[in-house]
Amino acid sequence: MDGVTDATFRHIVATHGHPDIVFTEFTSVGEICHSRKGGWGAFQYSQEERPILAQLYGKDPVLFYQAAHIVCEMGFDGLDINMGCPSKNVASSGSGAALIRTPERAVKIMEAAHQGINDWASGQSLREAGVRPMIAEKVHEMNIENNWHPSPQSDRSPIPLSVKTRLGYDEVVIEEWSECLTQGKPEAISIHGRTLQQMYRGQADWEAIGLAAQRLRGKGILVLGNGDIRSLEEALTAIKTYGVDGILIGRAALGNPWIFRRIQDLRLAMNSEAPLDVTQDIIDLPARFQMILDHAAYYETRNPKEGFPRMRKHLGWYCSGFPHAAAMRASMVRTSSMQDVAQVLRDYQSTHLANPTPSIPARTLTNASPVE
Ligand SMILES: Cc1cc2nc3c(=O)[nH]c(=O)nc-3n(C[C@H](O)[C@H](O)[C@H](O)COP(=O)(O)O)c2cc1C
Repeated sequence: MDGVTDATFRHIVATHGHPDIVFTEFTSVGEICHSRKGGWGAFQYSQEERPILAQLYGKDPVLFYQAAHIVCEMGFDGLDINMGCPSKNVASSGSGAALIRTPERAVKIMEAAHQGINDWASGQSLREAGVRPMIAEKVHEMNIENNWHPSPQSDRSPIPLSVKTRLGYDEVVIEEWSECLTQGKPEAISIHGRTLQQMYRGQADWEAIGLAAQRLRGKGILVLGNGDIRSLEEALTAIKTYGVDGILIGRAALGNPWIFRRIQDLRLAMNSEAPLDVTQDIIDLPARFQMILDHAAYYETRNPKEGFPRMRKHLGWYCSGFPHAAAMRASMVRTSSMQDVAQVLRDYQSTHLANPTPSIPARTLTNASPVE
């Protein structure tokens, strides 16, 4: 999720319950192919997050061809094309969910991305693919930052291509639309159960997702459903009810990086009648506070030159579902450092808890290292 699921947050998620796949925030093919500055932050990742898919948006097949080389060279485990973003910035230029209205272009984009992936796997260099030297240099720098050592040209394998989309533009056309997407031979199609026009309003239409899953069954394409799933228990119900191969969880992970921690139980429950035991999902206050500290500490270590605003959003999301959470949230959104965060937690403890947990302030002051 753009502006939210950055490398810091994904690392925290990965270390507290590893999801089967993660996606980067989306970034523009235009920025990646033309500029050393904008858009590259989305492609920071840590090796613990694997398998990780890079997500791109745009509308120019030529750029997708080059960008596919870049994504492969950067060691991503898959390339996901965004055909679902409803925001004006993206869709008004014909990218994101606007591609639902230009299906021929959508297929051309997938074909170009496939070609790029296959040519890279056959040993083609970024330069041979038309990638500018300054961009190739940037890829090299990012690989060092991400601790990724590209495999030799002779030892490359193609990565899977997938698409993330919505039910339609202003009406539900997912059955025809997903049929059309199959022409581009994606390995997986993720479907958010709303149209572009709906943005995030109303409820995700899981019946429509289920119909698309039914139509794609037997075609060798995974169908991942998405929209309004708040727990693994709900994910299990959706998988069983609508016949999708998997579920993407977005907003429910905000302030709740534990959400994926019982994924093994989910797998077991998929093949049995037994429900998931939801009582195990409860997170106590000390664990929540420790997570807040770990996340803030890791954020500061990883982003020493950036300000705290991006972290504040997460701090706000953690402050929910316990007594006086709203007051703590109001304090958290004014913090500017990990030390400020620790002070807010100490204040809460001394005001509201009879037996403060000593480990929290002590660890904060003496050990500001990341969670690893
Ligand atoms: C702030 C925000 C940013 C998002 N950015 C992206 C994005 O970069 N790529 C993408 O595929 N979807 C993006 N989405 C959509 C989510 O991935 C997801 O499809 C949507 O939130 C519905 O799923 P959920 O109910 O599990 O959150 C974003 C959603 C939000 C709220």
